[in-house]
Amino acid sequence: MRPIAPPDGKLAVLMPGLGAVATTFVAGVEAVRRGMALPIGSLTQMGHIRLGKRTEKRQPLIREFVPLVPLADLEFGGWDIYRDDCYTAAVHARVLERSLLDPMKDALSAIRPMSAVFDPTYIRRISGENVKRGPTKRHLAEALVEDILEFQKEHGCARAVVVWCASTETYQALAPCHERLSSFEAALDENDPRIAPSMIYAYSALKAGAPFAMGAPNVSVDIPALVELSQREGVPLCGRDFKTGQTLIKTVIAPMLKARMLGLSGWFSTNILGNRDGEVLDDPGSFRTKEVSKLSVLDTILQPEQYPELYGHFDHQVRINYYPPRGDNKEGWDNIDIFGWLGYPMQIKVNFLCRDSILAAPIVLDVALFMDLARRVGMFGIQEWMSFYFKSPLHDPAVLPEHDLFIQLTKLKNTLRHLRGEAPITHLEQEYSAA
Ligand SMILES: NC(=O)c1ccc[n+]([C@@H]2O[C@H](COP(=O)([O-])OP(=O)(O)OC[C@H]3O[C@@H](n4cnc5c(N)ncnc54)[C@H](O)[C@@H]3O)[C@@H](O)[C@H]2O)c1
Repeated sequence: MRPIAPPDGKLAVLMPGLGAVATTFVAGVEAVRRGMALPIGSLTQMGHIRLGKRTEKRQPLIREFVPLVPLADLEFGGWDIYRDDCYTAAVHARVLERSLLDPMKDALSAIRPMSAVFDPTYIRRISGENVKRGPTKRHLAEALVEDILEFQKEHGCARAVVVWCASTETYQALAPCHERLSSFEAALDENDPRIAPSMIYAYSALKAGAPFAMGAPNVSVDIPALVELSQREGVPLCGRDFKTGQTLIKTVIAPMLKARMLGLSGWFSTNILGNRDGEVLDDPGSFRTKEVSKLSVLDTILQPEQYPELYGHFDHQVRINYYPPRGDNKEGWDNIDIFGWLGYPMQIKVNFLCRDSILAAPIVLDVALFMDLARRVGMFGIQEWMSFYFKSPLHDPAVLPEHDLFIQLTKLKNTLRHLRGEAPITHLEQEYSAA
């Protein structure tokens, strides 16, 4: 059993990007704290964990099994290129009803964004005034470190975690300046255009000792230079791209097809959404980043090289259309062409009328609490047990990522069991059938 430092003191949850996801998360936690709603969708708040044999009937709540920070001890802050406070931004996002937001107006209005590190070449469809200026990217990174430490001091927080909830940046391929920490730091000094704002946030969080989670598909925390920094500083990181609507469904249906050895000839996924995220993704550079994140899932789950007759030739297409009337209420359609016994074709159609930020908000909460736990346990580097929450889970380059939702859940729960000295659940339990 690993010793776990108790969650004493308050935890600062700092988010680059106070948009739809972040404000739905903050307002949601505030509503739960006031007894106005339940934390539905949050594993840390509502989930139980089975311990020992089924006959033992031990099923504590996860939050009672591992020492997580109570919701009362969370303080929220963040950065945005717009000056809107959290209440105004939540009203603008049009995810939550005014009847829920208005009674919490004072608390939400008090959360004002710090000035952002922003580069319009990475996010093209939006612009704002609340942006830091500095002679080099190193200066900007130092300013962010200062923001994190200052926020903790001002709000009496013992620790901080940083969860990226900002827009999706344009696709950035891995370059030599991302390889080593020394080359990354030199690139900060030289204002290298290949250093994206999200990389600067991640660098600063790790430097300030705060775990970092990447909620968008941006390539940033997974560059070797930042993995090296997280190991050197002993700080955990995880990402990328919160696994919410369509990909959540995909990582449930695809393992089912493979489990039953059913073939796949095509998977066409399309979405309409009308929030600011949709507007940013309307830019081909940002869409490319999202597309790479969404496409990788099927190949990894289905292993076409291992099963060429079943998965060697499927056509996988993903579309996202910006359609303003829908706001945050995304609609996703999937047409799945499969084949079974003797090659006979069949189809599955999925029409998911989901709410993006309602699905993402509890993920922000869980990730923040688990990353704080990881920090207190002394875990650092990539946290693969957080794969459950992400579309493109960070993983050791020597192995393939795990995408199957239920394997990811088993991995997460077994990690918690391991931390508390409980045996992992293998589902062998041969003694029952032998009895
Ligand atoms: N909602 C979901 O289901 C879901 C799932 C996976 C990933 N995501 C990702 O989460 C992110 C947030 O989504 P959203 O719906 O809240 O978007 P949003 O557009 O409502 O909010 C993003 C905010 O980030 C701000 N921003 C952009 N660049 C910034 C920077 N450099 N520093 C600080 N702030 C910056 C924008 O001004 C905006 O207010 C997006 O990248 C989205 O792709 C969302």
